[in-house]
Amino acid sequence: MKNTISQTVEVNQVNESKIGQVDFENLDFGKIFTDHMFVCDYKNGSWQTPKIIPYGPLTMEPSARVFHYGQAVFEGMKAYKDDNGDTFLFRPDENFKRINKSSERLAIPEFPEEYFFDGLNTLLKLDNAWIKSGSGNSLYIRPFVIATQASVSASEADEYKFLIICSPAQSYYSGDVSVLVAEKFSRSASGGFGYAKAAGNYAGQFYPTKLAKEQGYQQVIWTDSNTHEYMEEAGTMNVFFRINDTLLTAPVSDRILDGITRKSLISIAEKEGYKVDVRPVKVSEIVAAAKDGSLKEVFGAGTAAVVSPVKSFGYKGEHYEIEKQENSYASYFKKVLMDIQYNKVEDPFGWRYKV
Ligand code: COI
Repeated sequence: MKNTISQTVEVNQVNESKIGQVDFENLDFGKIFTDHMFVCDYKNGSWQTPKIIPYGPLTMEPSARVFHYGQAVFEGMKAYKDDNGDTFLFRPDENFKRINKSSERLAIPEFPEEYFFDGLNTLLKLDNAWIKSGSGNSLYIRPFVIATQASVSASEADEYKFLIICSPAQSYYSGDVSVLVAEKFSRSASGGFGYAKAAGNYAGQFYPTKLAKEQGYQQVIWTDSNTHEYMEEAGTMNVFFRINDTLLTAPVSDRILDGITRKSLISIAEKEGYKVDVRPVKVSEIVAAAKDGSLKEVFGAGTAAVVSPVKSFGYKGEHYEIEKQENSYASYFKKVLMDIQYNKVEDPFGWRYKV
């Protein structure tokens, strides 16, 4: 059925929803997708009319450049439903800016703001029943761009697809995580594209993370590629350390993702009068603090991970446990953040966006 519920987006709705087949109580992160997806093609020098169509496979030439050179970027965002059934996004303007920043670094053409927001709003209205209310439930939204031009010539493509797919989600990690601090591998290098949400930044982590998993760790905390002396970020999240009452996190750089959850936590902490120190964090100071007991907490922050406490870390063959704190900063910041996201409290920062 075709209709025009949006000004810029052509909509082709499914005849029958598959929502009845989904067990919302037992969701594996990122495995189930909603009924519809947003697709917009770039060709002949411009983005074409965006469409919302039933979620389903794409047909592409095997020579499409994304398969050979990984010319692809993505975003991660979430929609939340409050107890009245109203739907909200969290700082979607930041995701929009960041996907275009990532695209620029990968020589992908900028995507128009109107298409992005109109596409998102229309998609979230169509698939609204897939967003469940209740803390912890959300709809994970994955905008992404891929180079579709059929040619294995090694340069930027002149044809792309911008897509948005959505997946009902609960938590990313089922409990507190253990992380391994990288000694030899690195995620990105100065002058590279670590700050971009480029597909390749994630693919490059899979092998070292697989080795870390064999040792019982779920994630790697990456260290700087020059010296491996400084903490950078983990695979799916930025990282915070609490030494006594001070919260430490590395400054963003061309190697570190400018995480939206990261900067939101910094704003919350600063507004509430916590001591926050954004500066290079030495691995040696964290190890020393773990040994003398002043390391009170380590936690990750990301859209998928939300605020994920780290219970222990490994480094150079040693394993360090972090004692669980009563009234931890991580649980407090998580509550403040989620109360804003789920429209439970006033939003002093203006971060909520009503769909
Ligand atoms: C997100 O938090 O949205 C991310 O991008 C992490 C993802 C790789 C699971």
